[in-house]
Amino acid sequence: MYVARPPMGWNSWNTFGENIDESLIRETADAMVDTGLRDAGYTYLVIDDCWSQKERGPQGELRADERKFPNGMKAVADYVHSKGLKFGMYSCDGVLTCAGYPGSYGHEFQDARTFAEWGVDFLKYDNCYKTKSMNGELLYRRMSMALKASGRDILFSACNWGSEQSWNWMRSAGADMYRSTGDIQDNFESVRNIAESQVDKLCCSAPGCFNDLDMLVVGMYGKGNVGVGGCNDAEYRSHFAMWCLFGVPLMIGCDIRNMTPQTASLLLNKELIAIDQDPEVRPPYVLTGPGTSKVEPMFFRHLSGGEYAMAGFNLTDKPRDVHFMFTETGLPTDPSVAFELTDVFTGERVGVYNEHLCVPIGPHDCAMFRAKLIVR
Ligand code: GLA
Repeated sequence: MYVARPPMGWNSWNTFGENIDESLIRETADAMVDTGLRDAGYTYLVIDDCWSQKERGPQGELRADERKFPNGMKAVADYVHSKGLKFGMYSCDGVLTCAGYPGSYGHEFQDARTFAEWGVDFLKYDNCYKTKSMNGELLYRRMSMALKASGRDILFSACNWGSEQSWNWMRSAGADMYRSTGDIQDNFESVRNIAESQVDKLCCSAPGCFNDLDMLVVGMYGKGNVGVGGCNDAEYRSHFAMWCLFGVPLMIGCDIRNMTPQTASLLLNKELIAIDQDPEVRPPYVLTGPGTSKVEPMFFRHLSGGEYAMAGFNLTDKPRDVHFMFTETGLPTDPSVAFELTDVFTGERVGVYNEHLCVPIGPHDCAMFRAKLIVR
């Protein structure tokens, strides 16, 4: 499958872990439509681990847990499709999944056919309980082949957490997106560690195969399966802004049936989504020079249509003034060229600048702008 833009959707793991069932999935599908998330671009609804029975069936087939999914997975897929959404599921390259359910090792082609029969459009493929003699690269290549032979177009979402330097080979192994880090947790330190670890690997993210920085924790507020600590609204803003600025997959992880107004408006922010999904799909670069530092990183990104995105983050626990120096983007000091800035959070036009902009930013918060280059 060829994937042109970072995939967007919802995944059950961050909030629900093993507590998943058919009514949750139906209600979530309804909520994706009713809240406007689907129309904003979040089209994949993905069931993560813990959906199957603990044993395969008599023909070695995977079977849905009847207590959780009494009508079977085909019925769930049909419902998801009836809402104009795409349906995602989960398996693993080892003998068991990470939570101890049957993995696809030795059953790859059979399982891919099962997923295709059920109407699956997206497969997240994890990396636990691998047999020692097998290397991951080979197993990811194998599942990619199995999905391609399944008779259905299925997005292949590989999840080996960046082990075996997977950024070097996931594209050639056939992955459409690949998890590059360990599991995210719902606290700012985790978000920050993930972002910092991938800044120099955003060049390994492009149409066809995207670097996946893990599902969003936006809107979890410490609740659920990875709800360790929780973030405040400023921290969720920075988290979402980073993922959009980086142009990576946006998989929501909160309970979208019960979003706060702040969560909904952040996840539905059209400016941020447009930056994430920009057709030129270029990574940002880090601005260096006076005024920048590891705790106040600043980024600039070339967008389509001669526009740009610019963001600064305050990773410290205190309010700080962040200084954007436009010469660091390559802009000459000549006043006839300047940037017209629009704040992506408020939609307000901030003004025209060509040398320097100082923005006060609260602890763990950020500032992000769309910049239009004006030549006078
Ligand atoms: C791994 C993955 C998570 C989730 C769990 C399920 O930890 O990285 O995203 O899929 O397995 O068990």
